[in-house]
Amino acid sequence: MKLLSVSNEEELSRIAAEILFAKIKSAKKLVLGLATGKTPLGMYRYLSKYSKESNQTFRHIHTVNLDEYVGSITYHEYMEENLFQHIDIPKDQTHIPDGEAENLTEECRRYEQLIKEIGGIDLQVLGIGENGHIGFNEPGTSFDARTHVVELTESTLKANAKYFVDSEQPKQAITMGIGTILESREILLLAIGERKANAVKELFKGSLNKDIPATALINHPHVTVLADKGARKLLDKES
Ligand code: PGA
Repeated sequence: MKLLSVSNEEELSRIAAEILFAKIKSAKKLVLGLATGKTPLGMYRYLSKYSKESNQTFRHIHTVNLDEYVGSITYHEYMEENLFQHIDIPKDQTHIPDGEAENLTEECRRYEQLIKEIGGIDLQVLGIGENGHIGFNEPGTSFDARTHVVELTESTLKANAKYFVDSEQPKQAITMGIGTILESREILLLAIGERKANAVKELFKGSLNKDIPATALINHPHVTVLADKGARKLLDKES
């Protein structure tokens, strides 16, 4: 696991976008795994800017998002607003779990199959929860879980309550499993701010811990953690 240290959110957003944009420019076809939440917002802003300034096409890009709330299109709207409407990616090449599917078990199966059919994920972007979750894989989730429906923990519900000021917050979500995420060829985990410092510290302890789902990443051969000063606050040394 490689640690890339940056000073703040702005620098992190720019560097994350540069990493993605370099791949978008050089690849003939690229499957990007994308995340939502506050963390990647700046990265999407930079990506949209780079796209506009350079006329770089995104027509060869496929995206698969990590998760969506059950009975909701919250993250569909988020992606449209923060990225998709700013780039020329074909709509049918953007994928997000359907939280409104009638049969959620079938939807989870469909999503797994879809990821296989488009060739697997080349680069998966992840945030990290205060409780160490990745996607919506909450503490205790099996490290080989596939896409599944989860009951969200209090910690996650509280952290994300801001998205539901006008509507009831769903208590369940569909998420790619940790096993699904680990099959990505490359992973870029973004961590911003002191709220994430404890989860980042646990991640760099170097031992697998089911209570900190992100520790599943330590055996993946190609993981970069991009962390700002706040998120690195509890690391003993920066290596
Ligand atoms: P955040 O969420 O970016 O809104 O902090 C990250 C996560 O829960 O994975």
